[in-house]
Amino acid sequence: MTDLRWPTYGLRNVTLEAAQPDGEGGSMHVVDSDGNVYLDAMTGVGCAPLGHAHPLWVEAIERQMRRLSTAANSIFTGPQQQLARRLGDLFPIDDARVFFANTGTETTEAAIKLALRATGCDTIVCFDRAFHGRSLGALSLTANPAYREPYIRCTGEDAPERFLDARVIRLPFGDLDAVRQAFADHGERIAAAFVEPIQGEGGVFPATREFLVGLRQITREHGALLGVDEVQTGCGRTGHWSAWQAIVGDDPALRPDILWLAKALGGGFPVGACLASKEAASAMIGGSHGTTFGGNPLACAAALATLRIIEEEGLMAKAGAQTPTLRELAAAAPIDQVTEIRGLGAMIGIQIGAAEDRAAGPLNGPLMHDHKIFVTICGGHSVRLLLPYRAGKPELEQIWGALAECLRAGAAS
Ligand SMILES: Cc1ncc(COP(=O)(O)O)c(C=O)c1O
Repeated sequence: MTDLRWPTYGLRNVTLEAAQPDGEGGSMHVVDSDGNVYLDAMTGVGCAPLGHAHPLWVEAIERQMRRLSTAANSIFTGPQQQLARRLGDLFPIDDARVFFANTGTETTEAAIKLALRATGCDTIVCFDRAFHGRSLGALSLTANPAYREPYIRCTGEDAPERFLDARVIRLPFGDLDAVRQAFADHGERIAAAFVEPIQGEGGVFPATREFLVGLRQITREHGALLGVDEVQTGCGRTGHWSAWQAIVGDDPALRPDILWLAKALGGGFPVGACLASKEAASAMIGGSHGTTFGGNPLACAAALATLRIIEEEGLMAKAGAQTPTLRELAAAAPIDQVTEIRGLGAMIGIQIGAAEDRAAGPLNGPLMHDHKIFVTICGGHSVRLLLPYRAGKPELEQIWGALAECLRAGAAS
């Protein structure tokens, strides 16, 4: 098939047609245009916590579509207010205020803007292997000074400098000494530290509790904010609503200041949400940020249905059981080339060989074509599983068996 899109994606040459019903609830399987049925451990990527086409999720979106699908963000809608309240109840942010967006990248952008404005500082600490999105600079091109000038000044413009030299300090993930040193050297400029509690694209590396708590303490000591990117980890994937709660726990004294979500939040419908404490969010005065589609009633209805179904069907507990189940299967039938299984709940990285060998890539093809399983490869060295939450032992057994066969056949050598 001729691909009429930009050639920006590594292609799999498969055309997906539909979800393939496979029991109660959302489907874990999808069917392509040739009738092949795949187990979906990729879920687009990490966006189908309920599986595909869950009937109650479809019904909720259909119902909302018949009522109202769009509204400017200057107008209240019921679904948006309900979702903001629900997110504030579920996630560990003090007296949360929410900015709604459509994607993970947009929620990261919102977090950056908030951190800069709330502190008046211009530097963000982040970490090796981090992934927070791909946007480049729409605001730089926007003319209206009310939107642009608080953040960016163009060449030749006579405007006060604000965040013109916004900087990033990148540090080794897990290294609190390096964080302490960065704050000692540049503390007066640091607005925030941003961290994925489990690095996803980087290869599924969970942070330790010690690291996250240390970040909380150091940022607080220096009057900087702590931002937690839960785009991939959030909404039940780790067996808890957030990976922060899974790793750190529920201690209110340790809560982050900003936490952002996308991917699983909409159950497959694009929606993102950046939560910030009321105090930090108060910096985002009228006009300081905005979006057309973010938090539209359809997206909010989809997210509300997703959160409700996760709760009603006990899907978080099922998600939480996936990593331990895979570890049991691996212990019972070890695969020589698998050097590590990392992750929490329904976010699993299976490392093949040494990290620097980047040996996992060649597994993608045979897993898909010969075994009809979709996975993603992350960090080059690990097979990543982001299964629907209800997946359990049978699906993990199927994946582990297929992996063993691919490796026996020399797929990663
Ligand atoms: C942790 C994290 N942050 C942000 C993003 C960007 O999300 P999106 O692709 O929806 O813009 C991703 C996407 O993989 C992610 O994993």
